[in-house]
Amino acid sequence: MPEALKINAEILPSAIELACCLSCGHRLEGRETCASCGREHPEVEGILHAIGPLTGTNRIAAQFYDGPNWSRFRPWEQLFLWFQGPGPRVARRQILRHLPQQAQARVLEVGIGDGENVPLLPPTWDIYGVDIARTQLAVCRDRYPSMARRLVWAEGESLPFADQTFDAVYTIGGFNYFRDQAQALREMQRVARPEAPVIVADELPTLYRLAPGHALGLEAIDRWGLRLMGLDVDFIDMVLNCRVDLNTLARDAFPGHRRFPIWNRLGYCLVNPDPRRGPVLCR
Ligand SMILES: C[S@@+](CC[C@H](N)C(=O)[O-])C[C@H]1O[C@@H](n2cnc3c(N)ncnc32)[C@H](O)[C@@H]1O
Repeated sequence: MPEALKINAEILPSAIELACCLSCGHRLEGRETCASCGREHPEVEGILHAIGPLTGTNRIAAQFYDGPNWSRFRPWEQLFLWFQGPGPRVARRQILRHLPQQAQARVLEVGIGDGENVPLLPPTWDIYGVDIARTQLAVCRDRYPSMARRLVWAEGESLPFADQTFDAVYTIGGFNYFRDQAQALREMQRVARPEAPVIVADELPTLYRLAPGHALGLEAIDRWGLRLMGLDVDFIDMVLNCRVDLNTLARDAFPGHRRFPIWNRLGYCLVNPDPRRGPVLCR
């Protein structure tokens, strides 16, 4: 095992120590094989595998983030965030400011990607992350060796953790295309401690309507532009057909939430429970 993994393993509970079996929910307690049902959850180079076959939009998203086109599209995402800050840090802080204000916290990022938010959080926090794209998890581990053994290849819709494990759960920039958003919200809420903030932020699902082709009624122009920017054909279909009903989703899963506009009103941030009820100190 590389030195960084060894050091990390000694200090913090690793993901496999916190995790539960994906099939029966039994705690793994550090073992790759579930003691109750025998399901395997291999831990490969610091990343726990707790996932089944991907379907629907999760399959399309994973193919994109695992493939070569994500790095072609990445500069456009960075450029977008630059304008929304100014600068990506300021843009991200519009969301991260809703995390608990405390020295110690155990937090989970759903769709952690390559870990852009990790250096923006207090170094004293125990950060865990899940993602459906293995390549992104590997990059995150390599960029931030302290994340080794705290990353899980898993879907937001099926989080392999016990109820009430985290002091905050958040997802930034992938939610619009989750396969089952309502299920992901329920899962994020389930693994958060009572009163812990659950935060969901992304660009507006209707952002594509600002594209010139949409205004002209010529969708082919937008398809061509997005392809030039690096998006996969299937991913473009997903963007142009995105019909997420945030109001209904949030009302049903997050009855006590508050919705904040972010990124110059081009994005949204749902926080549950409503932070106006006062800061909540967990643990
Ligand atoms: C735009 S990236 C954002 C990464 C990171 N959160 C950030 O702020 O830079 C979206 C990430 O969400 C992941 N993702 C998409 N759908 C997911 C799902 N259903 N469950 C878990 N991760 C998902 C993608 O694989 C990708 O790494």
